[in-house]
This record gives sequence, C-alpha cells and structure tokens, in this order.
Amino acid sequence: MPALVIIGSQWGDEGKGKIVDFLAEESDVVVRFQGGNNAGHSVKIGEELFALHLVPSGILRPGKMAVIGNGVVIDPGVLLDELEKLEKRSVSVENLRISDRAHVIMPYHKMLDDAEERMRAGAKVGTTGRGIGPSYSDKVARLGVRMCDLVDEKVLRERLEFLVPLKQRILNAYGDTARLDLESICREYSDYGRRLAKYVMDTGPMVTEALTAKKRVLFEGAQGSMLDIDHGTYPFVTSSQTVAGNAASGSGVSPLWLDEVFGIVKAYTTRVGAGPFPSELMDDIGKHIADKGGEFGTTTGRARRCGWLDLVVTKYSSALSGFTGVAMTKIDVLGGLDELKICTHYNLDGVKVTTIPADLRVLDRCRPEYSTLRGWDDIEPARMDRILAEGFSALPRNMRKYIRFVEKQMGLRVVLLGLGRRRNEILDLRRKKW
Ligand code: GDP
Ligand code: IMO
Ligand code: MG
Repeated sequence: MPALVIIGSQWGDEGKGKIVDFLAEESDVVVRFQGGNNAGHSVKIGEELFALHLVPSGILRPGKMAVIGNGVVIDPGVLLDELEKLEKRSVSVENLRISDRAHVIMPYHKMLDDAEERMRAGAKVGTTGRGIGPSYSDKVARLGVRMCDLVDEKVLRERLEFLVPLKQRILNAYGDTARLDLESICREYSDYGRRLAKYVMDTGPMVTEALTAKKRVLFEGAQGSMLDIDHGTYPFVTSSQTVAGNAASGSGVSPLWLDEVFGIVKAYTTRVGAGPFPSELMDDIGKHIADKGGEFGTTTGRARRCGWLDLVVTKYSSALSGFTGVAMTKIDVLGGLDELKICTHYNLDGVKVTTIPADLRVLDRCRPEYSTLRGWDDIEPARMDRILAEGFSALPRNMRKYIRFVEKQMGLRVVLLGLGRRRNEILDLRRKKW
C-alpha cells in the first residue's frame, strides 16, 4: 500500500498538517498536489509551533523527500521566505523538490485577487488575498508563468513582455491605478528563479519511480472538500480541486497508484471566509469552541466560524474522495460541554436531504437536523498519559460513544484520533502501521 492521500473533509483547517506530520514518520515522500499559500498547516512539536504554507508538512521529518507538485500555485517570494525560516530553525530543506510545471503567483495576481473581491461588493468570497484564484485562472486561460519559465530569465522576460501590459489593462478596468513595472518584476522574479532553480525538476516521474520502488508516498491535501472548485459551496470555494482525484493529476502520477484515502474530520466544523454553513453556531457555545479550539486562521489570522459536526458534509466528502478511514481531530476541544449535537441530515420543507445541493439558495433553506449526545469532562494530563498508553478503552465513555456514532453514520473506522495540539497527542487506532 504505497500511496495514501490526506483530504480535508470540511472547509479546511481540519488538522491536516498534524496528521501528515504524524504519518510522515512512516513515509518516504510527502507531496503537496494543489492549492498554494492560502493553506496554513500547523504542527506543534514540543513547545515549538511550525506553520507551513507551501512546503509539505513532511519537511519536519528529517530524511523525507518533500515535493511541491505540478498542481500547486507557488508564490516564489513566500516560498523562499518559508525555506529561510525553516533553515533558521535547523530544519533541512535539502530534500525539497518543486515541479517545473507548477504555476507561479505573480504580483498582479495578488492585486487582481483584491480587485475582484472589491468588485464582488456584497458577495465577497473572503479569499485569503494571496492571488490564488487569479493564478489558477491564468493557468486555465493559458496565460500562466510556470516554474520552468521562472528559472529561465529569457523566457520569463518574453512571457512578461506580453503579460504585464495585458494585466495592466485589466487592473485599470477594475479601477486599480497601480502601475506594473515590467523591469522591476523581471528583476525580482528572475532573482527568485535563480534562488529556487536547484529545487526545480520534473517531479512526476520521480514520484512514480518512488511508487514503483514500493516507497511510501503521502499526498498532502490542502483546504477542504467543501472548498473544492467543482464540488464545494460554489462560488464560496477556492480555485483548485481539493478532492482525492486530484492527488494523482496534481502530482503527475497515475490514479491507479492511490490506494488509501484518509478523510480528516474535525470533531466539530469550522469555516473561514464567507459562504453557507448549515450547522454554524451563532451563540455562546460557538464562541466557546472557537476560543478553546484556538480557531484563528494560520494564514490570515481571521476568526474561524464554528459549528456542530455536520455528517451530511463529511459523508458527501467521503463519497467524492473514497475515504478508507477517518482521522478525527480536536475531539479534546469538545470536552466540558454537557451536550453535543451532530447533524445527520437536513430538512428542506419537510423533505429529508442527505447530500449537498448545488444551488446555494436551496442549501440556505436546508435546516440541520441533529442527534444529541452526552458530553464528557476535559481530559486531565494524567488521564491523557493513560489514554496514550492504553488506547481506545481508556477514553471517556461518552467520547467513545461520539466516535462510534460518527463511525456508524459514515460507515468508516476512525483510524487516528487527535487529542491535543502536540505531535504525540494522537491515538493510533489502525490495526497495522502503514
Ligand atoms: P490544517 O490547515 O488542516 O493543517 O489545520 P490548521 O493547522 O490550519 O488548523 C488546525 C489547528 O488545530 C492547528 O492549530 C493545530 O495545531 C491544531 N490541532 C490539530 N489537531 C489537533 C487536536 O487533535 N487537538 C487540538 N486541540 N488541536 C489540534
Ligand atoms: P488549509 O489548507 C481554510 C478559504 C478562504 C476563502 C476561500 C477562497 O489551511 O485548510 P482563496 O484565497 O483560496 O481564493 O480563498 O477559501 N480557504 C481556506 N479556508 N483553510 C484553508 O487552507 C483555506 N484556503 C482557502 O478563507 O473562504
Ligand atoms: Mg489551515
């Protein structure tokens, strides 16, 4: 079983970084296959916190190959900064490889991201403002700059001589008066290209070779299934495909290699930015979960909206990506509440709805229907040690019931259970290691 895909099952920030870091210990290669530095994946090692945006979380495990695949959009300035910060903290980035096919986020992409949000006025997506959407738009429109262009000064200049005046006109049309300076963009970006060139290669064949040699490859998804450009709550989504199918295409390997998919399910639901969220809590419980769970964006610092676990969402994601197991995270955050609710389906004018309607006006009219479960007390440190030593049976009884409820509803086993922020605060419930 050499290939395992990690997919966010909700609206992002499910704790993918922590799970990837845990599984990376058993892996040889970790590949990011979509998204860009809109992602923020946090890993806490002891008291040290790492927030990764473009570099695969596997980089924190010495000796593992870390690959940024062709499906990712790369802001080269941000990437260099991230690499520098990692090196300053004694994390080796020697094993990083970047696909020569990955697209580059250019300065005008960030300006266009802001301009487009302004134009949307009352219907803002609430993007991260990192230029993700405009960069993917250019990729699809065949107006992109790829890493193979960035590392070749001549090609880069040729490309920009055509693109910069075009983007200038579009920015002006949006009412943005900033002037793009071709020379300074060429200078800045060819410098980035020079500094990143040593990592850039055709990564697809390299990953295929690793798979052929039975090396274990972990595919690190970013964002979440409900932010998928095709299947999410469009237009309140990101601009890439976040489902497991894209792990192959975004890494340049055959889909036939993918044999396991873990869905990362936060024990409750969060969402950053605008858009529908049926099980959102607008009351004190929502605030309590946000505070206790530290629900503030890793990338933008924005407060995350919080709500009960929504199984319509996680089952929809599971169907899209073919989850073979669930990694449930942040269940510790729910400790101390008397009652917990889990949304099992929606009610649309008396009709039971069990999937996500495409039309947001219909989704808006869906009322969540809940099952109510009993809560448990917070886990004290001594009990945590016992749980980590003894396993599932040492968990509070009502927590076990909560997990069993989710397992039954999703038809899947919880294979990993996150009980805290730190690297070791995780219960491995797999029958065998990967
Ligand atoms: P990602 O984008 O899916 O990687 O998730 P983020 O890193 O943006 O957000 C998840 C947050 O929850 C981070 O601050 C993690 O350190 C933290 N976290 C992850 N797993 C757990 C867990 O099981 N319990 C607690 N309390 N925190 C967790
Ligand atoms: P990770 O990988 C949560 C959200 C933004 C916005 C929408 C579009 O850390 O889970 P974009 O900048 O991508 O065009 O913004 O998507 N978003 C995320 N929300 N976690 C993320 O990544 C996100 N990446 C994008 O808030 O609503
Ligand atoms: Mg995040």
